Amino acid sequence: MRGKTTFKICSVWLDNEMFLSLRVRAPAMVSFLSSWSVFIFILEMGLGAFALDKYTAAVYEHSVILAESTTEPVSSEEALKLMNKNMDILEEAIKMAAKQGAHIIVTPEDGIYGFSFTRETLYPYLEDIPDPQVNWIPCTEPERFGPAPVLVRLSCLASDNAIYVVANMGDKKPCNFTDPDCPSDGRYQYNTDVAFDSQGKLVARYHKLNLFMMEQLHFDAPKEPELVTFNTTFGKFGLFTCFDILFHDPAVVLVSNFHVDTIIFPTAWINVLPHLTAIEFHSAWAMGMRVNVLASNTHLRSRNMTGSGIYAPDGPTAFHYDAKSENGHLLVAELDSRPSLSPTYLSALNWSLFATTIKPFSEEPNFTGVVFFDEYTFSELTKQAGNLTVCQKSLCCHLSYRMTEQQEDERYVLGAFDGLHTVEGEYYLQVCTLLKCGSTDLQTCGQPVTAAYTQFDYFSLSGTFSTNYVLPEVLLSGVQLAPGEFQVLSDGRLVSLKHTSQPVLTVTLFGRWFEKDPPHPYTHSRIL
Ligand SMILES: *[C@@H]1O[C@H](CO)[C@@H](O)[C@H](O)[C@H]1NC(C)=O
Ligand SMILES: *[C@@H]1O[C@H](CO)[C@@H](O)[C@H](O)[C@H]1NC(C)=O
Ligand SMILES: *[C@@H]1O[C@H](CO)[C@@H](O)[C@H](O)[C@H]1NC(C)=O
Ligand SMILES: *[C@@H]1O[C@H](CO)[C@@H](O)[C@H](O)[C@H]1NC(C)=O
Ligand SMILES: *[C@@H]1O[C@H](CO)[C@@H](O)[C@H](O)[C@H]1NC(C)=O
Ligand SMILES: *[C@@H]1O[C@H](CO)[C@@H](O)[C@H](O)[C@H]1NC(C)=O
Repeated sequence: MRGKTTFKICSVWLDNEMFLSLRVRAPAMVSFLSSWSVFIFILEMGLGAFALDKYTAAVYEHSVILAESTTEPVSSEEALKLMNKNMDILEEAIKMAAKQGAHIIVTPEDGIYGFSFTRETLYPYLEDIPDPQVNWIPCTEPERFGPAPVLVRLSCLASDNAIYVVANMGDKKPCNFTDPDCPSDGRYQYNTDVAFDSQGKLVARYHKLNLFMMEQLHFDAPKEPELVTFNTTFGKFGLFTCFDILFHDPAVVLVSNFHVDTIIFPTAWINVLPHLTAIEFHSAWAMGMRVNVLASNTHLRSRNMTGSGIYAPDGPTAFHYDAKSENGHLLVAELDSRPSLSPTYLSALNWSLFATTIKPFSEEPNFTGVVFFDEYTFSELTKQAGNLTVCQKSLCCHLSYRMTEQQEDERYVLGAFDGLHTVEGEYYLQVCTLLKCGSTDLQTCGQPVTAAYTQFDYFSLSGTFSTNYVLPEVLLSGVQLAPGEFQVLSDGRLVSLKHTSQPVLTVTLFGRWFEKDPPHPYTHSRIL
């Protein structure tokens, strides 16, 4: 009776013979059936059904081994030897990250061969990287597009460790007289980020657009901005590189138009105080643009390169800054896969709302000073607590503050800058900043300072910005971040939540007014 019933139910889709064989080979059949039903489930529900709310990210700050010579060309064997030495170290980091459960690891810009090349001396390090649309797992088909030992090794590291791997390397693309822009050596050379999924498949290739100064001696910028994204079960990712972060294309477009959840950001970032230190600026970008950022910096003390982090829109989740040692460092932390769905996400944010609706505070005597080559208007914080406004052109900055005790030998100013920065690149800024001066001499306000002793137990900074792209920075003594100690309100105020854990170096609203940038800064700054 029982057997008959079973048969009847099964008979809908199993004939007699299959039923018998099912009984004989039951265990194998059961597992066949369950994997088949999982397969059906995937087909029906799509990838979204397995979406993860959270994921684990890793970034590795790599102390890059540099080439002995970047002025004399080397053989491709010698080039590969150096790249393998760097990849040996990256391999250890990738294995360690995978062991800690990371879904993805990001490694730094120039992390495989370093920098300061000429076009000719860089050439042996380059590989011809195909468009990911070719659907290629280099680890399993190493010869499909000719020799590509770096791509193959990275792909195998991803599949062997079942982790997404992002690295930065060089791409070469032959060209000729049919292309009027073809460089005279008959090829384009690109600074390129590559991403492999956990099966080792090449899923993204991004050519850096905004090349930094001398980099233009050995790399070409693509003719058009490339908007590169890829989907995973733990969110949508977009990529750009280092100096790109200062500009509209492709960085802002990836967030505003392509709605990525996480930005992958390999960098070789030179720290510049007070506003452009890696951990400070990159965490502020995550907060101001309201996305996750995985920032992996090269580590090179002699060039002031340090500072990596895993940053969320509501603050840094993990960061690393080490100006003392020559060591690399792995960071691993958990993030929301889709931060825009988080209850703390600020969906409407107007950076000028508060500042344009209040009556300006009292204006105190003001003077000018220089911050990273830009001429600011400053006003000193002369009282222990107060409300102060300082303006430059169309930007007025308002500060309310209270110090617990001001050190005799320290001076703080409120500064405003509204103008085009024109030194290592051309970009229009609107900045409101509270900062500690270099000494008691007010001429030193804006110079780099790394230590402070004055404690603030309250600050609220706002500005009459003409842009809605503003990055909130808080940097504490010792070049440290202040997670959980401040917040951005939807009316554009940057306010302290508590007495900061360390004295303050700077509290800044760093605004980028993209409409005022010179057209196509990436082609204007070309020096070749
Ligand atoms: C010139 O370059 C184009 C595009 O890369 C290629 O299709 C063509 O074969 C090349 N022509 C010659 C003469 O090398
Ligand atoms: C990512 O997923 C979204 C929504 O599921 C889809 O619209 C988009 O085309 C996908 N993008 C890529 C690059 O696969
Ligand atoms: C590194 O930073 C220090 C302190 O700000 C500065 O004096 C030095 O010139 C910087 N070095 C480089 C290579 O930028
Ligand atoms: C922000 O608020 C100000 C003042 O109400 C308004 O003029 C401006 O258009 C708003 N900006 C945005 C981007 O909504
Ligand atoms: C600053 O202004 C606020 C109101 O905006 C006021 O409550 C506070 O007393 C003022 N602080 C000082 C020190 O003047
Ligand atoms: C600067 O100070 C002068 C008086 O010293 C004052 O008239 C002016 O309004 C102030 N300007 C700004 C931008 O604070």
